[in-house]
Amino acid sequence: MIAFQVRHYDNIGSTNDEAQRLAADGAPHGTVVHADEQTSGRGRLSRRWLSPPGNLYLSIVLRPGAAAARTPEIGFVAALAVADAVDALLPRHARASLKWPNDVLVNDGKIAGILAEQAGDAIILGIGIDVLQAPGGVPHKVSSIVGCGGLATVDGARDRLLAALANWLDVWEHDGFAPIRMAWLARAHPAGSTLNVQLGDRFLNGRFAGLDDDGALLLDTPDGRSRIVAGDVQTGG
Ligand code: BTN
Repeated sequence: MIAFQVRHYDNIGSTNDEAQRLAADGAPHGTVVHADEQTSGRGRLSRRWLSPPGNLYLSIVLRPGAAAARTPEIGFVAALAVADAVDALLPRHARASLKWPNDVLVNDGKIAGILAEQAGDAIILGIGIDVLQAPGGVPHKVSSIVGCGGLATVDGARDRLLAALANWLDVWEHDGFAPIRMAWLARAHPAGSTLNVQLGDRFLNGRFAGLDDDGALLLDTPDGRSRIVAGDVQTGG
């Protein structure tokens, strides 16, 4: 099982950038960069990730034996770990669900973001979880653990997350992507539900038809089945 070594920073530009620097200097598998706040937090599709104190921001250097082509699979591994960690901190009636590709939602609001990036022969897995507050000024509904009635500190959320991540990474390394894909599907939008997918300035509307073997989104549209590797998904409508 992976052993984590946490390096803590009060304030940093982006934990993903710092983890990339450390990886280039040879930092081992399991090195964790954790910051109390980020001044240049990055999200998917070149977006900003607002990172005030009170939430969890960390990035992990991973050097899995698997080929670089499997980087996208890590995002699904991470989403399962985040969902388990968040569930453990929420009141019993609340439960995290998953939205393609790697969003974790509670009460329909995004509570965490995941950014997996290839850096040479390492993968940098960046995770942000809204613990105390959901940032404003974003164009989608957001949630936080405390806002949903949960009890959590940032360090407590970090420790839960790392324990859950060690568990799901173990499953992935030993049994491959198939069990990850199955577990992800069990917590995601049901097959047949309506999804709107934004691909740059184009929109595709269709019914969710599952995940391809590599994690690509399968969408049944009036024009046939589409295979989508990058985009933004809205459920319903
Ligand atoms: C998303 O767009 O949903 C992904 C957001 C990822 C944010 C995390 S916070 C820790 C790490 N450092 C960054 O700059 N980004 C990731």
